[in-house]
Amino acid sequence: MARKLFIAGNWKMNTSAAEAAALATDLVGRLGAEAKVDLAVCPPSVYLTTVRDVLKGSAIALGAQNAWYEDNGAYTGELSTAMLADVGCAYVIVGHSERRHILGETDAMINRKVLKVLAGGLKPILCVGELLEQRKADQTDDVVARQVKLGLKGVAPTDMARVTIAYEPVWAIGTGEVATPQQAQAVHAMIRDLLADLFGKTIADATRIQYGGSVKASNAGDLLACKDIDGALVGGASLKAAEFAGIVAAGAKL
Ligand code: 13P
Repeated sequence: MARKLFIAGNWKMNTSAAEAAALATDLVGRLGAEAKVDLAVCPPSVYLTTVRDVLKGSAIALGAQNAWYEDNGAYTGELSTAMLADVGCAYVIVGHSERRHILGETDAMINRKVLKVLAGGLKPILCVGELLEQRKADQTDDVVARQVKLGLKGVAPTDMARVTIAYEPVWAIGTGEVATPQQAQAVHAMIRDLLADLFGKTIADATRIQYGGSVKASNAGDLLACKDIDGALVGGASLKAAEFAGIVAAGAKL
């Protein structure tokens, strides 16, 4: 079945308030009426409301880069899914490799976050991906399958319509070294087979699997043309409106 492409920008910890507003304004000008591809941007959380106000009425949805898995309480520095919904988020990135590897998030924590995001009526983008040494040791499929399985533990089949998976090989993030379309497609196909085992073929066929890792306008077309690549989660290139729009254009013409 045809899956609508979903392209999201992860701005990470990279903009000032003024830059976030300017970038969002530029994106709305270029992509605000985009209908062929689903779009989202995930600004730093302190600027969510700023960006929300700029995106209002456009085709670009708002996402958060992280969420906590409790409703409220003594969790200094964290944000609940209710807070994120309150400021207009539709999506939440969960389990990004930077949170796994720099901030020590475990699959168990990530699973709790996925479940909480879903319970809060939001849409998780579950990130998975292997380290370079794991790829070199031929462990890619094992590592990624484990992250998908543990990340989605206990997710109701009916909630899978709101789940996006982002395959982001860690060695390709921020390095300029992009996975080849063949490398990415192979892992995406493996993930889809696993989803079929876990949730059945209909759900597996409907679930969007984004690729992330050094995506830019010049390589997006070849990646997005792959059968099981249903969009992109874009870091560095999402900070430049023209580059992000170029990625979206490459997807829209497929
Ligand atoms: P880059 O596009 O900068 O490689 O980052 C990818 C990423 O981590 C998106 O979440």
